[in-house]
Amino acid sequence: MAILRWLGRCRPAGTWTSWRTYGTVNVLGKDYPTDAMTNVSPTILSKLSVQLHTQPAHPLSTLRSLVESHFPAYAHLSSVSPLVTPYQNFDLLSFPPDHPGRSVTDSYYINKDLMLRTHTSAHEVDVFSRGETTWLLTADVYRRDEIDASHYPVFHQTEGCRIVSADAAGMQEIQDDNARLEDHLRRSPILIEDVPHLSPTNPCQPAHDPKHTELIAKNLKLSLNSLILRLFGGKQAEGEPLRVRWIEATFPWTTPSFEVEVFFRGKWLEILGCGVIHQATLDNSNVPNKLGWAFGLGLERIAMVLYSIPDIRLFWSQDPRFLSQFKQGEINTFRPYSKYPTCFKDVSFWLPTDITLHDNDFCDLVRDVAGDIVENVKITDTYEHPKSKRKSICYRINYRSMDRSLSNDETNELHAQVTSRLQEQFRVEIR
Ligand code: PHE
Repeated sequence: MAILRWLGRCRPAGTWTSWRTYGTVNVLGKDYPTDAMTNVSPTILSKLSVQLHTQPAHPLSTLRSLVESHFPAYAHLSSVSPLVTPYQNFDLLSFPPDHPGRSVTDSYYINKDLMLRTHTSAHEVDVFSRGETTWLLTADVYRRDEIDASHYPVFHQTEGCRIVSADAAGMQEIQDDNARLEDHLRRSPILIEDVPHLSPTNPCQPAHDPKHTELIAKNLKLSLNSLILRLFGGKQAEGEPLRVRWIEATFPWTTPSFEVEVFFRGKWLEILGCGVIHQATLDNSNVPNKLGWAFGLGLERIAMVLYSIPDIRLFWSQDPRFLSQFKQGEINTFRPYSKYPTCFKDVSFWLPTDITLHDNDFCDLVRDVAGDIVENVKITDTYEHPKSKRKSICYRINYRSMDRSLSNDETNELHAQVTSRLQEQFRVEIR
């Protein structure tokens, strides 16, 4: 279990990390030095060893193996440490230096040189460098986020990649596969709204032959349409075909790029990002003469739909009433065991002018005190005093356990702890 150990707390004011004296933090059994960028919390670190996607019978594990069974000849990777360098997570994938994803308000840092991966794409260069050409990698990923029914700072992704040699033999392999997949999809109840493989706003890379890129993009789309049919097909209302929508997108390490949405229970649901891998990524991986595609699938999103799981916190529940409902390899509809009463409490305060408090800072603080008992957090009011320029903020915290009824005393106690931590860490003045 990861334990956060801060040495001393004597530095005054500044942003939320600078009041600490830097020490070490223990992550997965090893000590690492902390610095001004350190922002991992004990709650976040406690998730690292859980590995829901490999826990037998867990919905995320069933979904992982379902995706794997659709690509039987691919390498299936699933126990890769979440600790990566910012260089792996961003630079090797051509993220610009000022990309917002790099900021401490969006990502979790152990220190300036080590972070928790924000996506499984962080491993593309490593895996290609090891010589893998067709592979899936499923893992936990970490992003600082708000608190509500579909956002959680840890979630799971499956990265899927295929590269072939950028020559006549490689292109023939892709063409043959395209013919096979097209035949399969032609006979299936799936309705696809497509966009061109290439367009002025989603162009071919200068280093690539447009004919090759067309074939690769087509292979990417056919492979994913067939996966989506496997996952969602047969779950539509009687006689309704499955509707899938392709949209142009941009990712720093793929061009052309796409996002895919699936129409499910009356709503379009974004389930993945993908594209033709950048030459720079292939060069960084020492495979400059290959060409191929990559996709990243969000597992919670898909599992919530397939199992009718209404709240993302449930994936982390240890309650037997949740866990006992599932069998490995089977998708069934989740039966809610109870909805316990909710209790909201407001905290309203003045923020000193020399302190910045991001919503994600507030949410991490709340999670550290109350964990998954918090259902959502909303800002209900902000106001800047015209003279002093001090900002007043009011947050509303909704407390609701998924497993039991909370007593009023317990909620009051949690809320009092949130309040005193706010005063201690951000020197706020409670109103
Ligand atoms: N990593 C991207 C994300 O997290 C998804 C993606 C994977 C996009 C591979 C393109 C290629 O949103």
